[in-house]
Amino acid sequence: MNQERSDTLVLFGATGDLAHKKIFPALYTMVAKGTLTEPVIGVAFDAWDVKQLQARARDGIVKAIGKVDEKIFAKLASLLRYVSGDYRSAATFEKLKSALGTAQHPLHYLAVPPTMFETVIQGLEQSSAAQGARLMVEKPFGHDLQSARWLNRVLHLVFEEQSIFRIDHYLGKEAIQNLLYFRFANSFLEPIWNRNFVESVQITMAEDFGVEGRGRFYDEVGCIRDVIENHLLNILLLLAMEPPVGRSADDLIDEKVQVLRAIRTLTKDDVVRGQFKGYLREPGVAPDSPVETFAAVRFFVDTWRWQDVPFFIRAGKSMPVHATEVIVRLKRPPLNVFDPIKPDDANYVRFRIDPQVAISIGAQRKAAGDDMIGEQVELTALDDSKGDMPPYERLIGDAMNGNGQLFTRQDASELAWRIVGPVLGDTTPPHLYEPGTWGPADAMAGFGPPNGWINPAK
Ligand code: BG6
Repeated sequence: MNQERSDTLVLFGATGDLAHKKIFPALYTMVAKGTLTEPVIGVAFDAWDVKQLQARARDGIVKAIGKVDEKIFAKLASLLRYVSGDYRSAATFEKLKSALGTAQHPLHYLAVPPTMFETVIQGLEQSSAAQGARLMVEKPFGHDLQSARWLNRVLHLVFEEQSIFRIDHYLGKEAIQNLLYFRFANSFLEPIWNRNFVESVQITMAEDFGVEGRGRFYDEVGCIRDVIENHLLNILLLLAMEPPVGRSADDLIDEKVQVLRAIRTLTKDDVVRGQFKGYLREPGVAPDSPVETFAAVRFFVDTWRWQDVPFFIRAGKSMPVHATEVIVRLKRPPLNVFDPIKPDDANYVRFRIDPQVAISIGAQRKAAGDDMIGEQVELTALDDSKGDMPPYERLIGDAMNGNGQLFTRQDASELAWRIVGPVLGDTTPPHLYEPGTWGPADAMAGFGPPNGWINPAK
């Protein structure tokens, strides 16, 4: 099958939150652009009919996009089918099989909790709906190395690796793709992109909101599993990897895997964990939960290029701003030819990932006036984000086309868990921090890149 486009999209979890917020808006945009013309079969437990699914899809689209173009929506609505039933029941998969009709290469998208993966996969196999099909699975992909291995085994009993698409929606973001592009489409970075010039790398993902009604899910996961093990580690890989030798999905993923293999397994000393005050009162959260809503983590990449350069990742809920960005900080000049260098003066490359997209160079220049005194400036290329393709649109399209470049391969899925393994499931109480601050100040004192963190602006 490999290169053939999937001829039907089957969406398990069609009545769920992810489908409502992200997947239907993505499908709507795909229909608008003419990149989706295949049937979409929603599957879920709710005893709905297709009209109810259409209404739910419309609601999600209006909330995400603002308004609906009736012609486009009518096209999407005409593609939608609905199969209701229990995933544990063979009858559900028989109904799915008949809804699939003559489809030869469906893409089964599991937007369901990971606890359901095995049941759904078995149902697909027993009904032979898995034949000739692809499988796309949502995160979290396991909760530690052992469960990820087990999950991979379950998947491989029915699907071969080339037909499996493990989603990390961060990899579908325009700004993340641009990291890769910017690094390898320009030659000026390469001479400085190594341990001789780079002092440290810091990646911050700050969210100025809490767990937003996802307390039950979040309390089983915590910050390291939720965004560090996947989204932010993937950013680190793009920053640290060597150029791929070719354009195939495996060429790119092979280089990322080389970095994963070279990252030191974390120890407790590499992590500061925090929890915002008030988290324990969130619905679904255990009253004495030790789960972290903030974490700062230090990584080392033991390669020729990066030996001894610290890579710090910091992520948290209830932070002062909503922003994700990367700072690659360069070493200071060897001599102070002019005024003494102040602690905040810095040479760096800043990649702003979210919400705006920008690339900046932080530099010193002479301040106007008599004296040779410097000031810090930034040269910024700001993207207006016009024409950006939202991650779910890109990733669903890629999976339907069998393009695995932006998905996580089996070896990468397991290596990432190997790295963070020893710092997961810590039951010691995390350090508390006030909502709207940059994490637990006392615990963070002295923990960070040399010359400190650079906080993203609003
Ligand atoms: C999800 C996490 O994977 O990513 C959330 O579960 C987080 O906790 C979200 O808020 C951030 O993604 P985005 O694309 O909204 O920045």
